[in-house]
Amino acid sequence: MKMKVLVLGQGGREHAIAWKLSRSPKIEKVFVSPGNGGTALEKSIENIDLSLDDSDLLINFAKKENIDITIVGPEGPLVDGLVDKFKEHNLKIFGPTKNYAILEGSKVFAKEFMKNYDIPTADYQMFSDAKEAKAFVKDKKHPIVIKADGLAAGKGVVVSSTAEETYKAIDDLLTSNHSDHIVIEEFLTGQELSAIYVCNFKGCSFEIALPWTKDYKSRDEYNNGPNTGGMGAVSHPLCYEHKNTVFKLHIDIEKIMIKTIASINSYNKNVNNGYLGFIYIGLMVDNKNNIKVLEYNCRLGDPETQNLMLTLDNKDIDLIDLILNEPISNIKDINLDRIDTIDDSFCCTLVLAAKGYPGEYKRDFYIDHSSIVENNKIKIFHAGTVYKNNILKSVGGRILTVNVFSDNKEDAISLAYENIRKIKIFEDESMTIQNQDLVFYREDIGN
Ligand code: AMP
Ligand code: GLY
Repeated sequence: MKMKVLVLGQGGREHAIAWKLSRSPKIEKVFVSPGNGGTALEKSIENIDLSLDDSDLLINFAKKENIDITIVGPEGPLVDGLVDKFKEHNLKIFGPTKNYAILEGSKVFAKEFMKNYDIPTADYQMFSDAKEAKAFVKDKKHPIVIKADGLAAGKGVVVSSTAEETYKAIDDLLTSNHSDHIVIEEFLTGQELSAIYVCNFKGCSFEIALPWTKDYKSRDEYNNGPNTGGMGAVSHPLCYEHKNTVFKLHIDIEKIMIKTIASINSYNKNVNNGYLGFIYIGLMVDNKNNIKVLEYNCRLGDPETQNLMLTLDNKDIDLIDLILNEPISNIKDINLDRIDTIDDSFCCTLVLAAKGYPGEYKRDFYIDHSSIVENNKIKIFHAGTVYKNNILKSVGGRILTVNVFSDNKEDAISLAYENIRKIKIFEDESMTIQNQDLVFYREDIGN
């Protein structure tokens, strides 16, 4: 029997997950709650307007519609224990329970966890008192990194280059409502890498590696400007590296993943389940190819997911097979991180954002991307959009992504840029006043 799936969330990540699931021959129906303008436009997806804060509403919907599996997109509901609540009702749901999601929910927990289990990470100290924190950083070398303990939607990390900036970040983060603790840590240099695994219902040691991706975190080109949720992504970021380097990294990253899952399971040994869901290990690889963990996320990345779903689709891999750990007939190796890749295929994701993002930005303008011809290699995933009266309106900072999969890196990148330039932005609903200055995108994705 074909399955009915409910995807929770409203970003580009959830559009991509829902789209990929809707292409599975095993799935009859995909609901997204609340979804966005992009999921509204997909013929095989239905948006349901339920609040992710209202677990009773979601549980009732899943029961009423006989949902076979619910997939949680964002971290908030995971950290708040939504999976635990679904489980109490014997509803099948993909995502870690609260005791596991704390790996993302608390930076203090994650750093202590890595220290206790000997997982390489940046040196750090934690503080709850601003005076003590300022005394600690007074003579420290800059840049330095200050992190709020709790979830902060990408706004809880400050990379600071001067003592004044650091003092301000300490005051801001400790007085914000994100947390009453901060972590101050050593600034790491190198290349960032997102290693994401599917920890499926088969249990520990059957994790499936998704292709490595690289997320472009800063707002402006070449690591300038403030941190964002991500302004672009590519896979495979190390496709031109020497093969031995890639093998070495593969082994080191696998070790970190196995240690992480074994340790968090052991930490939760009194809880009657193991880690279930996606786990995203954010890594920094230095110029000697040493690796340190920057962060854990207990979900897929955004915009990495948009990149990954188009890649899986082009590799003919069904996402629901990975989640349920069905035998996958068309691939021999469940490690999809492509360390021994024989093809040069490449996927490029560009984020179109509202001017001002990640700070205050304009919204309520109109988007026309009809001149982009989408096909199985070119796909737009929406984030901050709504679709009403046959018109797409912007409602968020990151508006959409243009994703291109190609046989080679250069073509993927140039086609992505060629297409994003075709998008027209208008101030008015009748689409007569064009104003491209309302949006921006980074020009260096893929470098
Ligand atoms: P986090 O949420 O901890 O991953 O931090 C968000 C982003 O801040 C990372 O993806 C990096 O770009 C940057 N970042 C975090 N920690 C460090 C660090 N110790 N050194 C350099 N950059 C960092
Ligand atoms: N792109 C980074 C994240 O999803 O956390």
